[in-house]
Amino acid sequence: MVRTKLVIFGITGDLSRRKLLPALKRLQATGNLDDTEIIGVSRRQVNVSKLLREVLGDSPETMEIVRKTRVFSMDLAQAEEYRRLKVDIAAQLDDRVIIYLSVPPRSSVQIAEFLGLAGVNTPNVRLLVEKPFGVDLVSALEAITRIDTHYAELQVYRIDHYLAKEMAQNIVAFRGGNALFSAIWDGTSIEKIEVVALETIGIEGRVDFYEQTGALRDVLQGHLMQLLALTLMDIPTDFNWDTLPALRLQALQQLQIASPAQAHRAQYDSYQTEVQKSGSLTETFVSVGLVSDAPQWRGVPIRLTTGKALDAKTTEVRIHLRKRHEAQSNLLVFRIQPNEGIEIDVFSKKPGYDQEFEVQKLQYSYPTDTQLPDAYEQVIVDAIRGKKNLFTEGKEVIRSWQVLQPILDHWEMDDQPLPIYAVGSSPDTVLQK
Ligand code: BG6
Repeated sequence: MVRTKLVIFGITGDLSRRKLLPALKRLQATGNLDDTEIIGVSRRQVNVSKLLREVLGDSPETMEIVRKTRVFSMDLAQAEEYRRLKVDIAAQLDDRVIIYLSVPPRSSVQIAEFLGLAGVNTPNVRLLVEKPFGVDLVSALEAITRIDTHYAELQVYRIDHYLAKEMAQNIVAFRGGNALFSAIWDGTSIEKIEVVALETIGIEGRVDFYEQTGALRDVLQGHLMQLLALTLMDIPTDFNWDTLPALRLQALQQLQIASPAQAHRAQYDSYQTEVQKSGSLTETFVSVGLVSDAPQWRGVPIRLTTGKALDAKTTEVRIHLRKRHEAQSNLLVFRIQPNEGIEIDVFSKKPGYDQEFEVQKLQYSYPTDTQLPDAYEQVIVDAIRGKKNLFTEGKEVIRSWQVLQPILDHWEMDDQPLPIYAVGSSPDTVLQK
């Protein structure tokens, strides 16, 4: 029986508490952690039972995870400590070793190098890395190259949890499996594409992270570009999902390099107080217009928009169809979250004696008792199974930065204060600022 050794760096950190540990609990409940040993790597000694019960609550699943988990404490900055870790993991060549780096990006590259130097990079090792992958094109290239020196691309699983969301995967299923959609999927029928990820929350205390990041790097460069790639790419007719990364890459390569004139940024009004930095130029809202050179998408405007502290929480891909006359309805929406599903505006006759009309919604939602797996459950299951198609390849990351880099360069030179919007504004209001 192949055993899995899941080695988690940063097990006590914020991301681990919010996403990773809860996902493990659900995987435990569904029998997906059988034969898995969990090794939490931490700078200090951790009472693992206390940590897990605090985060997951008391339950049989929690107790099972406690039983499977032990902590290895080490100094992350010392190369020789990683040799000690290698001995401790004691992996046989037929064990799967999954190293999950739930640590800040700068540390993750360094840890990967130390692990590689210590020989924790044999073919049975898979390395899971969290975004952001670099902060611009140059740093992404550097980070990817440094990790590639020690690990084959096949071993590196770059997490963009949006790709693993149930409805993001369903974009592929809906587009490929329904003649209704495949027949209209080009610029002859589609007039405009919008991908939006709007949040009501602010930066939630992540002051240092967000000050160095901003909305473009945090959400648009990865999550939204990936949703766009799923929308624009060719669909494998045989549903061979292993071709997905190459198809997404092709869609990204067909995008024109962005023009800074097509980018709009803004900041919510209490942000500077929150980060205690007056004059901060970090954007909490960004909207970018893009163009694809793919023959089927020529002339179709594309807009990606994301922001925090807005009036609604919603992530959607909105497809605007070409109208044959003005009164027609033309909107098709993939609701990535919340209320996952699909929605089509339908022009219809109002019931009654008069020939009056109204727009109704044709909706597909998952049955109410469906338990949608969280993206992080999918990520871990796929890493255990060795399935990489919902992870981003290095080339996709680099292409995405290439497309957006002129905007970052332009902003770097621009020291004008950002337009300010009130917390709770609508995206349309922000765009008018
Ligand atoms: C993360 C960003 O990658 O995605 C956060 O760092 C953002 O700023 C989050 O809030 C949104 O993810 P989700 O799954 O809650 O839509």
